[in-house]
Amino acid sequence: MNATAIAHPNIALVKYWGKRNRALNLPAVPSVSVTLAPFETKTSVQWGGDSDRFVINGVAATGAAQQRIASFLNLIDPSRPPVFVDSTNNFPTAAGLASSSSAFAALALAATAAAGRQMVLEDLSVLARQGSGSACRSLWGGFVTWRLGTQSDGTDSHGVPIDNEAHWDLRVVVALVSDQKKAVSSRDGMNRTQESSPLFDGWVTSGPNDVAEAEAAIRSRDLERLGTVMEHSTMKMVGTMVSAQPAVLYMKPSTLAVLHAVRELRSRGVPAWSTMDAGPNVKVLTTPEAEAAVIEHLRPHVPKVHSLSVGGPARLL
Ligand code: DP6
Repeated sequence: MNATAIAHPNIALVKYWGKRNRALNLPAVPSVSVTLAPFETKTSVQWGGDSDRFVINGVAATGAAQQRIASFLNLIDPSRPPVFVDSTNNFPTAAGLASSSSAFAALALAATAAAGRQMVLEDLSVLARQGSGSACRSLWGGFVTWRLGTQSDGTDSHGVPIDNEAHWDLRVVVALVSDQKKAVSSRDGMNRTQESSPLFDGWVTSGPNDVAEAEAAIRSRDLERLGTVMEHSTMKMVGTMVSAQPAVLYMKPSTLAVLHAVRELRSRGVPAWSTMDAGPNVKVLTTPEAEAAVIEHLRPHVPKVHSLSVGGPARLL
């Protein structure tokens, strides 16, 4: 059977960084995200054919990327037939713009449908999590918490919606420092951090409080409260990265320039807070009213600026 799905990426407002179980991809900390449009991944799956073939942005996947998709499909059915996957992003892949979140959410939805499996969103989220942790939050639109869960098999560690995309009209301005594929993947970066940063324990114990703070801020639409906890979570994560051995250093000179520019904007009364992920790009959380001022202020520092809105859920076409 054939099926096609579309999913938006999400960015973490409170970060996932570190795993308590690598085999099941269970997180060391809970996290909170916002789903972003119009960035999206569109994935078509044909379940049954002559041989596995996985095409990402028009290029056949090989090596580790191919293996990662094959293993993911085996989770759906260990005795599956050969599968054809064709996946396209309308934004840069593997550059710290959360492409793995939309990729595995869209693949989970399209592949299970093509395999004739009907699954509830929570189970799709558990499946997507095993492809890439952040993907478990991209099944829903709007604002999502990824719960730690307590079950040893990971069945309760999945996304839980806080509220949908209609709850709060926000903007995320992406200051694109670089759209090159990053040298250290988020997976390798977080494993190295967990193994070697002396700050990692503090990161883990302080995580749940940040999630509670972000959830309360989202429910009450308090942007200052949300922006403050998002920046704090981001800087704590970066602190664990740069204190790893060897340091996981995604920031470039323009990354720092943008971080300072955002602080300066805020000192002038513009509502703007910054976050980063496993890459040099900075994402700035702001209001629709302040969007133009933020874009204008950041443009001199970076080659490209994107502006994103709160996106909807993953869906089958
Ligand atoms: C910094 O979800 O890409 O973007 O589970 O190993 O595939 P794996 O990692 P991934 O890591 C995302 C890390 C982050 C923070 C976040 O999205 O919460």
